[in-house]
Order: sequence, then C-alpha cells, then structure tokens
Amino acid sequence: MNKVYIILGIAAGLGIAAFVTTRVVPSFTQDTIQTAEIGVEQGRVLYVESCASCHGVNLEGQPNWRSKGDDGRLPAPPHNEEGHTWHHGDGLLFSYTKLGGAAALAERGIAYDSGMPSFDDRLSDAEILGIINYMKSTWSERMRETQAERTESEKLGGT
Ligand code: HEC
Repeated sequence: MNKVYIILGIAAGLGIAAFVTTRVVPSFTQDTIQTAEIGVEQGRVLYVESCASCHGVNLEGQPNWRSKGDDGRLPAPPHNEEGHTWHHGDGLLFSYTKLGGAAALAERGIAYDSGMPSFDDRLSDAEILGIINYMKSTWSERMRETQAERTESEKLGGT
C-alpha cells in the first residue's frame, strides 16, 4: 500500500517538474542566450540600426518615458542604468524583442497594449542576443548581478 503512495508521490513530483519546465519562456532556451555568437561591438552596431530610433543612440529612451502618451501606450524606456531593462531576466528581454511587447506578455498570460514592435522577421536570434549583451555591457557590475539573478528565477517560472 505504501508503495502505491510513493509511486503517486513521484508521479505528482514529475508532473510539477514538467509544469515548471514548460512554464519557462517557450520561445528560447537559456543555452541559446549563454552561447551568443555575436560580440558586444557588433551588438552595438545592430542596436544603433534597429533600436536607437526609439530607445535613443545612447540608450536614453524617449522623453517622459514613464507617462503614457495620447494613444495610451508607454514611450520607449531607456536601456541604460536609468531604465528598468536590467530588472528583467534574459528570457523577457529576448522575447520582448523577438515577439514584440504585446505577444511576449500574452505568452505570460498578460493582456497589454505595447508600442514595442516584433523583430522576428528582421533580426536572427543571435543578433537579438548580441544586442542584449551590448545593453548589458553598459550596466554596472551590481546591476548585471541583479539581472543575472532575475534570469535564474525566470527558469523557475518567474518573470
Ligand atoms: C518603434 C519604436 C521602437 C523600436 C524601433 C524598438 N523599441 Fe523597444 N520598446 C518600444 C516601446 C514603446 C517600449 C515600451 C512598450 C511597453 O511598455 O511595452 C519598448 C520596450 C522595450 C523593452 C521592454 C522594456 C524594458 O524594460 O526595457 C525591451 C527589452 C525593448 N523594448 C528592446 C528593444 C530592442 C532590443 C530594440 C531593437 C532591436 C527595440 N526595443 C526597438 C519601442 C521601440
């Protein structure tokens, strides 16, 4: 009889593990992030080409980025130390860029009208990762550490 309970217990445990694993950001794997092929300098060039028009050449964001515009959407925030990009783990930054803000949040069950477009048809995954690594290179050691912790907690299903 006890054996049955042990087996049920293991099955439930596996079920939870499977749930946690599938909860983790579906559109990329952490390994992809860690093996980024594109260096920081190339990431900077790609950033200037693709992102600077809204997020600023010096990652400074749009004016009054904390207040919604007439269209009800937030302006593009800074990606430097002034902004909140470093509060998010790699998974969110990657999917926000690849899928666009609305789709990235929809994946996490949040309905949100976002002005952040999808770059899926314009940038490869490696290019997106290179851009993220460039943004990280402008942050302080402490911010990079905090951001790395957020990336770890994302693996367990956090955001
Ligand atoms: C057409 C303007 C535009 C362009 C170009 C653009 N963004 Fe954004 N981005 C936005 C807006 C607006 C927001 C804020 C929207 C929101 O609140 O969801 C945003 C938000 C983000 C966020 C999430 C917020 C945060 O915490 O930083 C990330 C990450 C991001 N953008 C990355 C990028 C990257 C990387 C590129 C270039 C590949 C890029 N964006 C190009 C408009 C743009």
